[in-house]
Amino acid sequence: MTVLITGGAGYIGSHTCVELIKAGYDIVLIDSFANSSPDVIERISMITGKTVTFYKGDLLDSAFLDKVFSRHSIEAVVHFAGLKAVGESVEKPTSYYYTNLVSTLHLLQVMGKYDVQRLVFSSSATVYGDGNKMPLKENARLQAANPYGRTKLMIEEMLDDHYRAHPNWRFVILRYFNPIGAHPSGLIGEEPAGRPNNLMPYVTQVAAGRLPELNVFGADYPTHDGTGVRDYIHVVDLARGHIQALKKTASTGFHTYNLGTGRGYSVLDVVRTFEKVNGQPVPYQMQSRRAGDTAVCYADAAKAKAELGWEAVKTLEDMCRDAWHWQVCNPNGYRKKQYVQSNG
Ligand code: UD1
Repeated sequence: MTVLITGGAGYIGSHTCVELIKAGYDIVLIDSFANSSPDVIERISMITGKTVTFYKGDLLDSAFLDKVFSRHSIEAVVHFAGLKAVGESVEKPTSYYYTNLVSTLHLLQVMGKYDVQRLVFSSSATVYGDGNKMPLKENARLQAANPYGRTKLMIEEMLDDHYRAHPNWRFVILRYFNPIGAHPSGLIGEEPAGRPNNLMPYVTQVAAGRLPELNVFGADYPTHDGTGVRDYIHVVDLARGHIQALKKTASTGFHTYNLGTGRGYSVLDVVRTFEKVNGQPVPYQMQSRRAGDTAVCYADAAKAKAELGWEAVKTLEDMCRDAWHWQVCNPNGYRKKQYVQSNG
């Protein structure tokens, strides 16, 4: 089966490509490389031993998309491509609405034209509103807190409307919790542009001595140690979830699943586990709360287990070890010549 992966060179996209290839799927990868490196393609090939079919291009360019569909017998699409930085979305909302919504509309149009009716969409736990009971079930109240989150929510609604009008289509919406870690090979991982906003890339850069210390945002949350609690999930577990989601698109329907572990860890749990597993100190300093953060957020992962037969199996230790291995192997990210061979 041939699957088109949009944004396949990104952090989650690249790990998903690896798992799909390993599971025997033929993939066609497209990416604009606006926020990812073309070197990813070669790394995916190194891990899988397979040549990767890829096209550089943008979903905002319908003619490009049409060309890809005309050349391959695509049977399903996994749609990752989009802008994803929360802070930037607040500064440039129209750019986020335009890019994320219009590219998805183009994708739906071209899928319709080529009679491709199976779509897995990359959504986020950020679509859940504040004030929900934990753990979050898929039917919790939805309300995004920023333009990025609203694009995810709007796309979910757009796809739902499309399904109601075309009930022969098949949609699986995946709401990711906090993906961290990297492929255990150390060949692919997360490469944030500039200073990281998210916790784990910041921790690895502090451990590597590139940043002086971690700022822990908030020590007065009503949690076991006062720091924020999140559902961290190993990116390889998350990637595996997409295989099960694709299988679900074998029959018609519109389904939404949380992809998380169902367990919450605090910022200090992550720091201490990272230090223990990797033997690297992570100096930190307590700061005031970061605007827009909630105290606790973790998934009820039961629906994905019951209906997809998927559950996360990797531990926080695995996540911390693999994140550090990626950092050590690639001190300068994807710049090829800097890759350090390691047997870890
Ligand atoms: C963020 C995004 C979310 C996105 C997700 C991707 C926001 C408000 N939300 O979630 O939309 O889907 O990333 O993984 O940006 N922390 C520190 N110091 C740091 C960085 C983070 O203490 O330098 C803390 C945060 O306060 C939070 C936890 O670490 O308690 C996780 O933060 P982060 O990795 O940024 O993820 P989220 O904010 O949960």
